[in-house]
Formats: sequence, C-alpha cells, structure tokens
Amino acid sequence: MNLNIALLKGDGIGPEIVDSTVRVLNKIGEKFGHSFTFTPYLIGGCAIDATGEPLPKETVDGCLASDSVLLGAVGGPKWDTLPGNLRPEKALLGIRSALGLYTNLRPAKLYPALKNDSPLKESVVAEGFDIMIVRELTGGIYFGERGYRQGKYGEEAYDTECYSRLEIERIARVAFEAARKRRKNVISIDKANVLETSRLWRKTVHEVAKDYPDVTVSDMLVDNAAMQLVKNPKQFDVIVTSNMFGDILSDEASQITGSIGMLPSASLGDTSRGMYEPIHGSAPDIAGQNKSNPIATILSGAMMLRYSFNLTAEADAIEKAVDKVLNDGYRTADICHNDGVEPLSTDEMTERILSCLD
Ligand code: IPM
Ligand code: MG
Repeated sequence: MNLNIALLKGDGIGPEIVDSTVRVLNKIGEKFGHSFTFTPYLIGGCAIDATGEPLPKETVDGCLASDSVLLGAVGGPKWDTLPGNLRPEKALLGIRSALGLYTNLRPAKLYPALKNDSPLKESVVAEGFDIMIVRELTGGIYFGERGYRQGKYGEEAYDTECYSRLEIERIARVAFEAARKRRKNVISIDKANVLETSRLWRKTVHEVAKDYPDVTVSDMLVDNAAMQLVKNPKQFDVIVTSNMFGDILSDEASQITGSIGMLPSASLGDTSRGMYEPIHGSAPDIAGQNKSNPIATILSGAMMLRYSFNLTAEADAIEKAVDKVLNDGYRTADICHNDGVEPLSTDEMTERILSCLD
C-alpha cells in the first residue's frame, strides 16, 4: 500500500515521540512492502507561535487530504494563560470535530512485565486486566454551550452537557461491536442518578443492546466506576462512556497499568481516516531531553495500521516487538523502578524496538 500520513507533532515531547514512530512505521513499510509519505502540519502551541492560531486551516485541509493522522501531544506552560478559544487544547477538540472522529478507543492492559509498576497491590493485579475504553469524543460538555453571565453571586461561568440520541446510539454500537471481538461484555458508565443526559444515555444504550443479544451489558455510575477500577480492574472488558467521563477514567486506567507513557489511542469516525495519538500529554518538563517513553505513540502507530488500513500482521509485529523489549527488561525512565536497571533514552528504546522488527 502507498499511504499518506499527516503528522501533527505538536509541542513538548510530541516531536520526539512522533519521530520514533515514523522510524518504526518506515521499518514496517520496508519489511512488508508498503510506502508511507509523511507530511507534517502545525498544531497547538507551535502553531500559535508560527501563525497566531492553534489549528490553522492548512492543518485541517492537510489532515482531510491524508489517509490517516498521527499526533504527538499539544500544550505547555507557555500557552496556559491564553483565552480558552486560543489554547492549544482547543486545536485538539477542533481537529477531532473537523475529522468527525466521534469514537475514541483507549485500550488499557497490564503488561505482565510491568506488573510491579502498577500502584495496585499484587493480589489485585495478579490475574492482569485488559480493558477497552470506548469514549465518545465529539459531544457532551466539551462541545456544549458555554460562556459567562451574571448570576446570583455576580459573574459566573457555565458549560453545558448535551447528548443527542444519535450520538449515543452510534458510540454504543462501536462498543458492542468491539465487545463482540473480545469478552462480550459492555459496562456503560454514566451519572444517571443525577444527570438527564445520562438517563438518555442509559436508555439508548439498552435499546442498542437489543441488537447484540450475545453481548452482556450493565450500567455503572461513574463514581462507583472510579472506585471499581482500582478495586477490581479485571471485571471490565469494554467500557462505554461520555467524553468527559472517558477522559477522566482513561487517565485512571492508564495509571493502574503502571505508566501513562504506555497507552495508545485511536480516534475514529465513519471513514477509514483516523487520528492516532498517545493518551498522555506533552510533558514539557522533559521535552527535548530524549527521556520520554515513545511506546504509547508507537503503539498508536500500530493501531493506525490495524484500524485505518486493516494491516493486521503489521500491527501485530509492532505490538510483539514492544512486548519483547519489555520482557527483555528494557525500560524508559517512567517505567524504570528496579535498582540496577539503567533507563533507556527515547532513541535507545526506539532502536530496541526497531531491532526486534528485523
Ligand atoms: C485527552 C486530553 C485532552 C482531552 C485535552 C488535552 C484537551 O486530556 O486526550 O485525554 O481532554 O480530551
Ligand atoms: Mg485526558
């Protein structure tokens, strides 16, 4: 295949982890006979510095013209005091929406080699866990009406959560389809004891469930879910939830795997074009120091091959290479807690993974 990939390196550690992933994808291309053309576009803080806006039109057009998109991370202290609509994060929401990426898949699994990195007790993670979080990505409070107004106590700010039946239905279908390929269990997470949007969410999920009699479905309130994730993570197979609850729970799920530096994600819509990015941020404190863990982005590259291009053997090869490197005891600083093990740099970790692809 000849594939055109838009690269949105972004800020902080974004450029280094995307560069590592490009090396891995090129290696896969050589090995399996595909060619990748990578075209970089600006997004986030670097785009603000260069053009005055976080998401230039050229970037949106470039992504729309590509076969798929690989993103590093956006944001940093330099841009933290800008007004909301000019912040780097706004670009992320803008590009998700412009590309129609309403599904966000965030797999969180415990690597046996990293069991000791999980902050959870050995007895809780003894049998491991493997969770697929299906987060709604282009609706809810992230995109609802917002603003400032005068209220009972003077100036107040407000954000609103709104979900249509259609938005809930289509994300629920993604979750049920995903469950069919896994352990056939969906837990839908909401706050239906308080929120009207959650009541519509719950009702709609159960309507969609009728089309999937082979999949078990249950509901869980989000506060309880936060607790259950640390109490008994292996009870979860597929989680489906709203934009904001998914944002919060996926950080929690990543931490119990040992490091947020390990978790990839795929943002998908109705076409094969997706956007693939690590779930972590731009880590400005270690940017440019060759210390970051490239694995989450490399695994995001594997998800791109799997979900956008149906290149299963190629995706498997990357995932196996990552497994092997971890099983062989190689670690970047974020996952290096054993005395006597020297952490690898970003480049060294990338080279280890490349050599497993030989
Ligand atoms: C994520 C991030 C983003 C989000 C931010 C940076 C806007 O936290 O992808 O999880 O909240 O969606
Ligand atoms: Mg987040």
